[in-house]
Amino acid sequence: MRQTITLRRPDDWHLHLRDGAMLNVVLPYSARQFARAIVMPNLQPPVTTAGHAVAYRNRILAALPPGAQFEPLMTAYLCDATEPSDIRRGYEERILAAVKLYPAGATTHSEHGVTSMARVARTLETMQELGMPLLLHGESTDPAVDIFDREAVFIEKTLQPLLRDFPRLKVVLEHITTEEAADFVAGERSGRLAATVTPQHLIFNRNALFMGGLRPHQYCLPVLKRERHRLALRRLATSGFERIFIGTDSAPHIRRLKEAACGCAGVFNAPVALESYLMVFEEESALDRFEGFASVNGARFYGLPLNEERITFERREASGPGEVQMPTGDSVKVFLDGAVLPWTLLDTAEDRS
Ligand code: NCD
Ligand code: ZN
Repeated sequence: MRQTITLRRPDDWHLHLRDGAMLNVVLPYSARQFARAIVMPNLQPPVTTAGHAVAYRNRILAALPPGAQFEPLMTAYLCDATEPSDIRRGYEERILAAVKLYPAGATTHSEHGVTSMARVARTLETMQELGMPLLLHGESTDPAVDIFDREAVFIEKTLQPLLRDFPRLKVVLEHITTEEAADFVAGERSGRLAATVTPQHLIFNRNALFMGGLRPHQYCLPVLKRERHRLALRRLATSGFERIFIGTDSAPHIRRLKEAACGCAGVFNAPVALESYLMVFEEESALDRFEGFASVNGARFYGLPLNEERITFERREASGPGEVQMPTGDSVKVFLDGAVLPWTLLDTAEDRS
């Protein structure tokens, strides 16, 4: 039985770092594990321009612990008013790595999202020309569509026409949750469609939302799905398929806002992200495929260099924090609630200093 695993330092291709006091508390967990992360722009107000992205990037860099090596890859929040020239400048000046599309009303702080694809066509044409990826929150916002069907309907009604109308646009279908999405991404032959998947969608099915009572800390969007979907996601993620990679969707909210009459969507998994993915790969007898998923596939898809630094996990049972305290007195519950995980990431901080 293997006792250690060493691999290239991974990247997180979908992360919510928030801002202000929350940013200071959550950032060190991601910076300890990942070399880079695609930072979601859904602040309030959202990061919609290259100028906003520079300012937010500077706040993230200022919040890094001393000695940390972490590169935030910034995104702009696509809205009906987005200026294609601003996106072009942002990409060419390496301020923006990608553009994020939230269908209006799909999730937390998405009220500024896109109301119709026709409105953003000029921006999508520019991105297609630049090779700049479009990141999709892939859920239909039609209120008549059942919440468990929203991803499949989005693929049919929005993603397929988008891929047809923009035949060279690079697209990431983020945080996929269904067998339909897994099959669609695996079957897309042109090589310009990829997916990310979260630890929670690999580990839990929708029963986890109702285990002995209502479980607000298991609630995120897209919502957990049935067991057959979880199994399909695990098969694809651990198969060696090259267009699927880590995207934790770590999305912290304070307890008061989750344990509420109308609780926020989002799971804070950053403190245990890599250890929980690694557990899944071991359970699927796919440890030899973990490095591709964690550290290679995403960088290749984005056209970025692979990280040269290595990290090591040791086979040693340890539990993550059950919750994290905020200076405001609030706290944030952590994914897996302090459960024991089989592998522990060794600290590389000493090697770097
Ligand atoms: C995210 C958040 O809280 O910002 N929540 C979530 O459940 N994933 C928004 C999002 O990415 O959908
Ligand atoms: Zn997200």
